Amino acid sequence: MDDRGIDVGLLEPILLEYQSQKGAVIPILQRAQDIYGYLPEEAMNEIAKKSGLSISQLYGVATFYAQFHLEPRGRHIIHVCDGTACHVSGAPKLVQAVEEEFNLEAGGSDPDYQYTLEIVYCLGSCGLAPIALIDEQVYGNTTSDSLVKQIKELD
Ligand code: FES
Repeated sequence: MDDRGIDVGLLEPILLEYQSQKGAVIPILQRAQDIYGYLPEEAMNEIAKKSGLSISQLYGVATFYAQFHLEPRGRHIIHVCDGTACHVSGAPKLVQAVEEEFNLEAGGSDPDYQYTLEIVYCLGSCGLAPIALIDEQVYGNTTSDSLVKQIKELD
């Protein structure tokens, strides 16, 4: 375990499981991300060392797919839609309220990694604008106050 608490030994069973499967980059990265919540540099180096995949190949895949994260994320993920319909219905106010209340910036997390705020562009439900998602739960026609309240009610 290193000084950031990254125990690369946890990767061993995964790397053993996939050692005979050439090109299993995506499942290896998915399983690694399940362990750490993101793909720490230490884990990427360990995967490269033990799997025979090159580090550039690993980062190529990890940066191409939106499902992979190279930075730690909060325990709760808040998405605010800022597509056109949501934007004109007040999405910027939602973003500002969450940023101010939870001490974070869109695209980032608060210092304790309780919350991560991400902006998305049109969730296909413009009739419910403005929309936010908290951990995949949809909140339509939401306001700054109710969104902040919902987030505060999370455990
Ligand atoms: S713009 Fe937000 S759901 Fe379409």
